[in-house]
Amino acid sequence: MKKYININDVDNLDLIVQEALAIKKAPFSNNKLGTNKVLGMLFFNPSLRTRLSTQKAAINLGMDVMVINFKSDSWTLEFADGTIMNAGKSEHIKEAAQVISQYCDIIAIRAFALLESKEQDYAEEVLSGFEKYASVPIVNMESATAHPLQGLTDTITIKEYSKNPKPKVVLTWAPHLKPLPHAVSNSFINYASEVDCDFVLSCPEGYELDAALDRSITIMHNQEKAFEDADFVYAKSWASNIDYGKLTETDKDWQVTAKKMGLTNNGKFMHCLPVRRNVVVEDEVLDSEHSIVIQQANNRTYAAQVVLKRILENLE
Ligand code: CP
Repeated sequence: MKKYININDVDNLDLIVQEALAIKKAPFSNNKLGTNKVLGMLFFNPSLRTRLSTQKAAINLGMDVMVINFKSDSWTLEFADGTIMNAGKSEHIKEAAQVISQYCDIIAIRAFALLESKEQDYAEEVLSGFEKYASVPIVNMESATAHPLQGLTDTITIKEYSKNPKPKVVLTWAPHLKPLPHAVSNSFINYASEVDCDFVLSCPEGYELDAALDRSITIMHNQEKAFEDADFVYAKSWASNIDYGKLTETDKDWQVTAKKMGLTNNGKFMHCLPVRRNVVVEDEVLDSEHSIVIQQANNRTYAAQVVLKRILENLE
């Protein structure tokens, strides 16, 4: 593996999931692979799981880790070419990416969507800027449109907890206080559709994501109908796709409740976290034996570790 930007960097999803599950059983078996190698983690947005699980994965592989929070600790970056930098931005991505590449063997980046313009978000300015000017492999720790470490984690978790050779998996939109990016849902769609499962996207009209439309995923606007006989229910909120970046639907009836989970096939409840209790999902679901959100978060380490391992194995 030369980089990890999105699912296109995974040549065989089944094999990488199997390798991650083997790493979970023996997490220190490659603890010399990263000796004298440095992972640089660049954050343009907050994180709990991604930061700590990726750092833990790197430590398990024997790497050293450096972390910088761009919003509080560093210069503001300019990404456009040919700009006269006489306003607020202090440093150009051209210098920053080349400089960081001299300090780090792998660079991992988190930079969320701004949700101001679909064109701008889907251009992935920050991630693409680092890809263009860095001379070391780049790992996506959630960009404007993709969260592939989460997508891989979710696939590992479904593999681990599925009792059915072809489970029914439902990704459902859920209510929220503010519009959220498409990244997690896009990646879940991209990864789940590569797995042998009966996959359904359940969302209000106007929230059908391009990732689902492009892959001809079954889309149901009736959430309760979608939940029938589901083995996994994955809840997530995201901004409208038609009215991009806006939250036009606030119907509390989309909340995941114990009553709705009762329609499933004893289904497991998944969420990437953080989750707003009693907005996205009822306490009764989150605190039940059907919720696997904590186990899912644990798998973040093994998803990150298999990715870093494969990149380390390919470093020149
Ligand atoms: N799921 C996830 O990426 O969590 P954090 O935002 O806490 O990293």
